[in-house]
Amino acid sequence: MTAREQWDSDADDAGALWWRWAVIYQIYPRSFADSDSDGVGDLRGIIGKLDYLADTLGVDAIWCGPLYRSPQVDFGYDISDHTDIDPVFGTLEDFDALIAAAHQRGLKVIVDFVPNHTSAEHPWFAESRSSRTAAKRDWYVWADSAPGGGPPSNWTSEQGGSTWEFDETTGQWYLHSFNRAQPDVNWRCPQLRKAMLGVLRFWLDRGVDGFRIDALHMIAKDPGLTDNPVRENAEPNPTDRQHPDFDSQWHVHDRMHPDLHDHIREIRALLAEHSARTGQERIAIGEIEAMPWESWVSFLGDGGTHFNFNFNFVETPWEPAALRAGVEEQEAALPAGAWPNYVLSNHDRPRLATRNGSRSVRIAAMLLLTLRGTPTLYYGDELGLADLPIPEEKWLDPLGRDQARATMPWTSRGNGGFDSGPADAAPWLPVSDEYLRLSVQSQLTEPDSVLNLYRRLLALRRSEPALRHGAFRALDLRAEQCMGYLRSTRRQELAVLLNFGDADTTVGLPGRGRVLLSADVPSAVAEHALRQRFLVRGHSGLLVELDDVVPRQRDA
Ligand code: GLC
Ligand code: MG
Repeated sequence: MTAREQWDSDADDAGALWWRWAVIYQIYPRSFADSDSDGVGDLRGIIGKLDYLADTLGVDAIWCGPLYRSPQVDFGYDISDHTDIDPVFGTLEDFDALIAAAHQRGLKVIVDFVPNHTSAEHPWFAESRSSRTAAKRDWYVWADSAPGGGPPSNWTSEQGGSTWEFDETTGQWYLHSFNRAQPDVNWRCPQLRKAMLGVLRFWLDRGVDGFRIDALHMIAKDPGLTDNPVRENAEPNPTDRQHPDFDSQWHVHDRMHPDLHDHIREIRALLAEHSARTGQERIAIGEIEAMPWESWVSFLGDGGTHFNFNFNFVETPWEPAALRAGVEEQEAALPAGAWPNYVLSNHDRPRLATRNGSRSVRIAAMLLLTLRGTPTLYYGDELGLADLPIPEEKWLDPLGRDQARATMPWTSRGNGGFDSGPADAAPWLPVSDEYLRLSVQSQLTEPDSVLNLYRRLLALRRSEPALRHGAFRALDLRAEQCMGYLRSTRRQELAVLLNFGDADTTVGLPGRGRVLLSADVPSAVAEHALRQRFLVRGHSGLLVELDDVVPRQRDA
């Protein structure tokens, strides 16, 4: 898209391009709200919070983590029935009610699609493992021992150790890129592909607006099972709980096989067919590893995903130069017409406030909601929550990811309003005093709370076209601890000024402007004067509307 087209795209705000302008809110269903007080969040719980999401907070779409029937070894990413809701979350009727209630409020609903593997308890796998000649043998990846014995290749799983598990029944190994309870399916098998597309169709027919596609870069592997090259002297990444063994080899043969793009094209064609039929764009969001931008963008495009999660901010040092480089690299790498995305936290990584300290959360809110691209907000980040510290012996997830999945504190007492009445069971994760202190209820009454900063930013993102689709240009502020950029449409130019340092700093803009929003505490400094130089407080930021860089035609 040319800059000019970008400027002119205001008209499409609510139409086919909704996914560009929408702010997506990630719900971890176990932890959001528990309607039946059994200790685990559920669909009726989410329905009860839609007013909070649509009106109090002001997001446009929700992405709910996996709700399907599952033994919950990987908390739902191990699916044993793709077309049913796990009883812990409710029923298919509850799901239909969620879609209806969300759509009534103008909220889109995105669900997970997990194409790389199923649960070992899936009936498909039961049949596949039953004999070498079983009808569904080929639906999973089976192989003989290596010539000298042992696993068929040196591939390591995301969680460490071999990807291969020996199965006594048939004397072959099956592949599991994650936990051994999650056997990888075989996308080279046409019947499997057909079944997986049928799963997508099932949820499209129930009205979902899109899919977040799990581990999309892994769905095709080298059919020759070539060993991966070993990676010398790799340093483990401390922010990366999810991949303890990721760095021990170059995953060139078990991930990113080029054939996966054929499979994505099939998925996209199905979505396109459905979108055309219903007049509503249904989207595919790729969850793919952080990888060189050129590989990352290869997933995008007409036959590819609508956008991919961009984990750059999760993995980059929290410093202005590194963050700016990440933004500019993504902008430069995107092919024409493609669209950026930003993720600050998710259910796999330590929370933002834990990674970068609690002082980072205001600047992070401004970055997420003022950059060009679809913002993805992880539940609880709008409260500035840090991880809930859980000692290792109490981890329910083998990788300790439950620390970033604690229950949402709605109120400041008891279980934080997570359950709806006298609790039958304690919440599945403990509730801390710190979480109660940061509850939704308490932050709504504090004008300068992080939650109120998010609410102000979200309201501005709705009211200011330049924030939704304006072009991005970095500013050279001549202050190392600061980051600044412009967002411009033909009618409006906004500047974002962020100070990552402790010291207050004055920076200059290319033209004069007025402060639209300040992230300072207290925020009461109503600074409406027209000026060219601005004092940006440490660990805070300003959003400035420029008055004289481009001619103002807005009120004309
Ligand atoms: C994705 C999910 C993660 C899960 C894994 C296996 O990375 O985000 O939670 O464990 O895939 O499905
Ligand atoms: Mg419940």
